[in-house]
Amino acid sequence: MLELSTETRVTELEADHPATLATLKSTGIFHDGDDADVTVGDLCMNVGLHPQIILSMLQRAQLSEAPSDIDISELDGLSLTEIVKHIESVHHTSLRKTLPVIVELVRQVAAAYGDGDERLYKLQALFEKMAVDLEDHMLHEEEALFPMCRSMVENGEIKATRCGDRVGGPIQCMKNDHDQVKQELAQLSELTDGFTQPAGTGEQYHEMLKQLKHFGQDTVLHIHKEDHLLFPRALETQAALREST
Ligand SMILES: [Fe+2]
Ligand SMILES: [Fe+2]
Repeated sequence: MLELSTETRVTELEADHPATLATLKSTGIFHDGDDADVTVGDLCMNVGLHPQIILSMLQRAQLSEAPSDIDISELDGLSLTEIVKHIESVHHTSLRKTLPVIVELVRQVAAAYGDGDERLYKLQALFEKMAVDLEDHMLHEEEALFPMCRSMVENGEIKATRCGDRVGGPIQCMKNDHDQVKQELAQLSELTDGFTQPAGTGEQYHEMLKQLKHFGQDTVLHIHKEDHLLFPRALETQAALREST
């Protein structure tokens, strides 16, 4: 993912991140036909804007953009309940198994190497927080959105849950959680220099990085399936149900 800074040029956004370019245009500081070789920092300086305001907007747009290299077309033929079952049996089950294992690995590596690299203590705190939040997030999906999806298909009605009787409520909560997780995944990568093993560290360090990298890839895929397949399908099913009643 392109690392955004005041030195990022509009040409780079054009090439890799159309959503960020659209956001930049929406601020009114860049228009079609302007010189795209300009940096974000210069654009902000021209109009007296603090660059951090624009960079935060661009980062948010970048995170919400669909990763271009994820292909989930093999799931297109699944029904809504089959999608729910797939997410539970594949992603939630594996995450519940791996989270405690990685928490322990990160704790041991921080204890062994943290005095030489304080970022490991930050990594430990970050991952422990992510593990707790992800457990809550999965439970929230399983107790609210997933039963709503099943009841729409199986009973032709939305079963009211702790999140009300419309799927849009829990979906908005889930999307906010997903944005937060994506930001934290970027921090994980930053704190480990892109999961690169430092010289002089051993097998345990290697294993931690391997597991963290796999966790990141699987979580991106998990979120992508929910954002781009499950949520739209749940909203479509609800709309069709309302029309028919
Ligand atoms: Fe999930
Ligand atoms: Fe989720």
